[in-house]
Amino acid sequence: MRHDSGVSYVTKVTGSVTTKSGDVIKNNDVITRDVPPSLIPVVAGLTSQRKRVPFWYLFDTRGSELFEAVVTTSKTYGLWQKEYSILQSHSDDIASKTSSPVILVELGSGASSKTRLVIEAMLRRHGSLEFVPVDVSKEHIEEVGQQLERDYEGLTVKPFGGLYMDGVRHLSTRNEPKMMLFLGNSFSNTCLHEQVDMMRDIRAQLTTKDRLVLGLDMNKDRNSLLEAYGQQWVTFQKDNPIGRLNKDFDGDMDAAKFELVTDVIEKPADGDTPNYVMGYWRSLAAQRVNFRKLDLNLDFHSGEKFFFTDGPNWSCKWNLHQIRRLAEKSGFALEDYWTNEAEDYGTVCFAPVP
Ligand SMILES: C[S@@+](CC[C@H](N)C(=O)[O-])C[C@H]1O[C@@H](n2cnc3c(N)ncnc32)[C@H](O)[C@@H]1O
Repeated sequence: MRHDSGVSYVTKVTGSVTTKSGDVIKNNDVITRDVPPSLIPVVAGLTSQRKRVPFWYLFDTRGSELFEAVVTTSKTYGLWQKEYSILQSHSDDIASKTSSPVILVELGSGASSKTRLVIEAMLRRHGSLEFVPVDVSKEHIEEVGQQLERDYEGLTVKPFGGLYMDGVRHLSTRNEPKMMLFLGNSFSNTCLHEQVDMMRDIRAQLTTKDRLVLGLDMNKDRNSLLEAYGQQWVTFQKDNPIGRLNKDFDGDMDAAKFELVTDVIEKPADGDTPNYVMGYWRSLAAQRVNFRKLDLNLDFHSGEKFFFTDGPNWSCKWNLHQIRRLAEKSGFALEDYWTNEAEDYGTVCFAPVP
């Protein structure tokens, strides 16, 4: 790939695509004129054999707002309410885990609506607090950060707009103890095959004075999952990102010609891999999509899948054995496990093992 003054011109294609002029490009290079470097992974996903966009691509500012609207109002999704109820009971426990002066970090912070409970507990305990939200949706978290600073005296917010691990590495230069939150079951959106490596990378950037608090959705029956991950997500999960693709790459992709499909994949309860919900857009017809900015035609056959996840999983559903194994394999000890009344959501505190 060549970069000239921040503009990328060429990206690798691993599948086969047809340019507007009709040339078939196989396992070769495609021209990506005027595409910002941050969008190169999106072009790579579009032109790979398993057509896809990275999961983070769903979260532009509008996507983040749509997401928050579903999770805070849905009767069937429920994760937001469950985690909120756990944090209502245990934010003081979380605040007691690290000593002052602590930095509160949140990976995938979004609207930070539940995090307010932890911020309040930490302010009660320490009087003042630095909060670093880390999220790819930069403008969104900057707005959220300004609102939080207006709402809480003693709070300083320093948003980091970027990918999770860039944020974690950025913070590793700070010597203060860190309370790192990863709420909303967001860790479960990471590709299944990369989860342990990601946890190890996080562990490598932490010290034994730090803590990682993860919100993880516990396993539930197939029908509840299909309902929770059903049609209520269409606007956020399909229509908005297709609109974003059209805007970013001057495309003519028609959201009405794709449907959102959800399935549940069950794994042995005594294995290390959690059950997971998978999701994709299915092409309703044979069709050609043109992205003029990339000089690229993408052909879909009827029924072809287009993924909006990095791996097979949209979301994982855990049991306690699997959470323990995740901690063990990545250099953490499971220090605390808090759950809601129905015991179907877990907020866990991982302590780095020396
Ligand atoms: C599932 S939402 C959770 C939002 C919020 N924490 C909650 O509990 O409701 C995931 C959040 O992580 C962000 N995100 C997704 N993938 C990311 C990545 N690879 N790096 C940084 N942020 C990411 C999204 O922008 C979004 O705000």
